[in-house]
Amino acid sequence: MPATACEVKVLAHEALAEHIRLMTTSWPRRDKAPRAGQFFMLRCWPIDAAPLLSRPISLHSYDPLTGTVQFLYEIKGPGTRMLAALRPGDSLSLTGPSGNGFPVEHIRGRVALVGGGIGTAPLYELAKALAARGVKADLYCGFRDEPYGMERFLPLCGRVFVATDSGRAGFHGLVTELLRPEEYDMALCCGPEPMMRATAALCREKGTACLVSLEKKMACGVGACLGCTCHTTGGGRSVCKDGPVFNAEEVFCE
Ligand code: FES
Repeated sequence: MPATACEVKVLAHEALAEHIRLMTTSWPRRDKAPRAGQFFMLRCWPIDAAPLLSRPISLHSYDPLTGTVQFLYEIKGPGTRMLAALRPGDSLSLTGPSGNGFPVEHIRGRVALVGGGIGTAPLYELAKALAARGVKADLYCGFRDEPYGMERFLPLCGRVFVATDSGRAGFHGLVTELLRPEEYDMALCCGPEPMMRATAALCREKGTACLVSLEKKMACGVGACLGCTCHTTGGGRSVCKDGPVFNAEEVFCE
């Protein structure tokens, strides 16, 4: 199904930490309810103006009652700087929802959510969707310094583990040092590639299933330009259309 571009309004926009913003917008397309792990292409500048490409940002939360979506994102470059300047009442374009998302209906048993930095963003909608199906996952989150957005997970998750590189909060070290994959049937992971590779390796060693959500630079966002191809055991696949969620064994197979 082709992704849909939709002009929406910013309803709220707040800073959760330095360079981290939480934006709430309308999402009037109730016939296109976004799922955990899917993403939208965001744009608030003219189609013929720089930067050329829209910004792919994962769904942080969807509320079907209010018809709103939330994006938790990091200000990293010109596109996200322009998004960060938006105020309530301003308009932007959302194209999506795109990608496969997490297969929530097939996830059961003991589940660990493992996130690193802004990779924790899609895990919130995932925790909500799992909790709605009676799965209370444990959460493992790693940050460089200041954790953000953790309090929202508390009612949805079982145990919550936080690690920071700086030691400012929680465990001083890597979040993967806290993870015991043998305690889980499945780990669902999103974050920097080294963290996802480490999580996948730990899970492989203990025979725990592991899904990872990959991040790649994207141009079209719909599988047409081959700009986001990743190598898998089944050949080249596009992260935007075939992913971003893959079985870790497919993509970290060496
Ligand atoms: Fe064009 Fe994925 S961004 S194929």
